[in-house]
Amino acid sequence: MQLSSWSSTAIPVVSISIILIIIFIFFRKYLTSKSTSNQPGLPPGPTPLPFIGCTVQMLLNRPTFRWIHKLMDQFNTPILCIQLGPSTHVIAVSCPNLACEFLRKQDAVFSSRPETLSTFLVSDGYQTTILSPPGDQWKKMRTILIHDVLDPHILKWLQPKRDEEANHLLSYIHNQIQKNDTPTEDGGPGEEETEHVSSVFTILKYLYAFSVIDFFPWLRGKIDFEGHQKIIRTAIQRVRKYQDGLIDERIQLWKDGVRKVKGDVLDVLINHESPKLTDQEIKAQILELMLAAIDNPSNAVEWAMAEMINEPSILKRAVAELDHEVGHNRLVEEQDLPQLNYIKACLKEAFRLHPFAPFNFPHVSMRNTTVAGYFIPKGSGLGRNPNVWTDPMRFDPDRHLDAERKQVVLSDNELRLLSFSTGRRGCPGVLLGSTITTMMLAIMVQGFTWEVPQNESGVNLVENHDDLALAKPLVVIAKPRLPKHLYPKS
Ligand code: HEM
Repeated sequence: MQLSSWSSTAIPVVSISIILIIIFIFFRKYLTSKSTSNQPGLPPGPTPLPFIGCTVQMLLNRPTFRWIHKLMDQFNTPILCIQLGPSTHVIAVSCPNLACEFLRKQDAVFSSRPETLSTFLVSDGYQTTILSPPGDQWKKMRTILIHDVLDPHILKWLQPKRDEEANHLLSYIHNQIQKNDTPTEDGGPGEEETEHVSSVFTILKYLYAFSVIDFFPWLRGKIDFEGHQKIIRTAIQRVRKYQDGLIDERIQLWKDGVRKVKGDVLDVLINHESPKLTDQEIKAQILELMLAAIDNPSNAVEWAMAEMINEPSILKRAVAELDHEVGHNRLVEEQDLPQLNYIKACLKEAFRLHPFAPFNFPHVSMRNTTVAGYFIPKGSGLGRNPNVWTDPMRFDPDRHLDAERKQVVLSDNELRLLSFSTGRRGCPGVLLGSTITTMMLAIMVQGFTWEVPQNESGVNLVENHDDLALAKPLVVIAKPRLPKHLYPKS
């Protein structure tokens, strides 16, 4: 993994971190009524053209999140309003107090989601949780996830599966190292898995990609202006090609009475009673769970490793914590995680400084309201950005360590960093997501030493232009640091 000499203090855009997006539908009506009422004004933003709003500017200034960030700087405002199309308003917020106002105080008002062509296709007509507007279907699916998939007892029951994955990661890295000496099967992803995972990431990229047709809904099905529709349809078809057949097979095994004991989340969904789920609901929800669980853990661990390798004193402290809490004679286990506060602080810092997405999942307002003295019309949404940290661009895990040595948790209800968000749309996978992410980093730090290649002076911390991921995949040299017998064979 190779990177150049960028320091984290020089990264330009990651100060976007709490951004909230709000979409408004009845703008015209509001404008006509505004002159006769004492309603407050909309938040500041660029002047929209009649009918098209700022759509042309948006198209000329891709990626949209960097444009929005620039506009917030230009207008010198933590709350910005951009009109897109004839009647949609996007409201971006970059300060924790305002984010709390939207996501906590007025949570009930802002708990809807925008209905776009991509979200409609991915959720197979809003049969799922994350993408669905509030209503009976969202409530049903969210309740099932909370009680039957993400409940701590269920997570305990599924721990052996996660242990298997952690061992797999360890043996994969170990095999990569061995490969230099003797060619072996490394246990890495095959062609099909690579296609599946890369298609999941494609869906994530285009899910809320500011597509023109979402602001001019009557164009839907008539024109694919930016080509987003084709890309997302192909990606969904690729992911489903691998998943749906397996789900059908499993459903059949239960119907035929061949499978009798539940062994995973799919079995739980298939056997759910009152309400019983349809095959379509199960398939759509499994796809959505893939989207929910993959991006954040991998992105946080990659950035945390990059920052830690670049700052050896931080990596050294993380190693020392593992040596002290776990030692050299066994592998780290989930039971150790409560003691690994420094490792968690490194991850929390990665979530703060390098969130996977520049925006939180968008929220849409369900009625007109006022936030920070501005009128926020019905039909609006949100994300976030913390500016409350000293020296905010510095990767500094210590800022998350409590003087009273309380447990470090990766979530933050005050929304000074987004990670899992909060409120009725907040992430129900906090425990699972934190566990997966922390185990992944802990096992990599415990199992290996990590260095940049000899001809490199450090890790290049440049991020992509189009998103906030590392511009180049992290390439570094790993060496085993535990007794040989501890590395599982795969
Ligand atoms: C480190 C890992 C994870 C992070 C950082 C994360 C973060 C988030 C965020 C920011 C949201 C949007 C909240 C909002 O709209 O305000 C969300 C929603 C959601 N997450 Fe997670 N998540 C993680 C892992 C997971 C996992 C493992 C699952 C389940 C397997 C999950 C399930 C969900 C669901 C179902 C929602 C939608 C809730 C709703 O709209 O009602 N997440 N997550």
